[in-house]
Amino acid sequence: MQEVIREKGTSLLRYYPANGSLELRDLIAKRASQYGYTLHPEKLIITDGALQALYIALASVTNAGDLIAVESPCVFSVLEVIANLKLKAIEIPVRDRDGFDTGYLKKICADHNIRSLVVTPNFHNPTGILMSDIVKKELLSIAEEYEFPIIENDIYGDLYFGNERPSGIGSFDTGGWVITFSSFSKTLAPGIRLGWMHSGKFHAEAERTRFALGRSVAPVYQEMVIKLLEDHSYDKHLRSFRKQLYKQAKDVLEVLKSHFPDGSYFEDPQGGYSIWGSLPEGVDMEKFYAYCEQQRILFTPGEIFSLTDQFRYHFRIIFAERITSHSLLALQNIGENLKQIL
Ligand SMILES: Cc1ncc(COP(=O)(O)O)c(C=O)c1O
Repeated sequence: MQEVIREKGTSLLRYYPANGSLELRDLIAKRASQYGYTLHPEKLIITDGALQALYIALASVTNAGDLIAVESPCVFSVLEVIANLKLKAIEIPVRDRDGFDTGYLKKICADHNIRSLVVTPNFHNPTGILMSDIVKKELLSIAEEYEFPIIENDIYGDLYFGNERPSGIGSFDTGGWVITFSSFSKTLAPGIRLGWMHSGKFHAEAERTRFALGRSVAPVYQEMVIKLLEDHSYDKHLRSFRKQLYKQAKDVLEVLKSHFPDGSYFEDPQGGYSIWGSLPEGVDMEKFYAYCEQQRILFTPGEIFSLTDQFRYHFRIIFAERITSHSLLALQNIGENLKQIL
């Protein structure tokens, strides 16, 4: 950051283009082309993080009262954006393995006027599931048939544990039905409020909404990301970060699977930041969370990932922070303690 300030000086205090620096948009598009996305720099908008991109996307293609399909479980911040725009959400199960219950979505589309679908196909938060290409294409064909935009959240796409960066629904889109967005919050730091969106045929509406929210992201952050993309240090950083995340996910899963009581279930994440799990029904969840807090292990209760109470016995564990042998031991104690009280 200091290097950027030294190099760019007071030019960082000027207005940058409303849609963000063209150099940055070029670099984002060039990088995305390496994993199959065709992003047009003139149709990219730099945003204040991913959630702002989601807000712009939804505000551009819906009206208050519209019905939006979301994944279930769904990250609570996404549910909050939907509620804030006075939209109604209908939850579609994220099936294990292939990533989405398309049969259920088709039924819902036949019976309701769905105005948009918000999904995280690559390493969904909280389950870490990667949607298959077959399902990605199927979702696109449903959206084309019922003529609604898919709003694709690719915030975890760079954090894959496999050999290849997965592509997205947008990479199969020829009609402009997909709005793809992402940010550098999960790969660099959430304090760098820098995201982007590519709005297909909804670009003009998105541009107007973005403009109404004020000028673009602070130039110093834009220049910082330009530097990291230009000299490839972003990709170098990702290579070691992915290895670290993979190892941490494996260590945590091993403890969960070997020390938690029979009847517990843990999703094997294929990338991303989190593990989704559940305990046998009947466990006193309030007592469980209180004991975890005592052990300084934070689980996010499953209930907040839905508008229903279907995830009462579920919870999310984030493994993105450094996992120490002390925290693994605390996790082991939690599991063993649970066995005693069941
Ligand atoms: C799926 C998902 N979307 C969006 C966000 C927020 O991203 P940002 O900090 O870039 O607004 C998060 C993380 O908090 C997330 O998990």
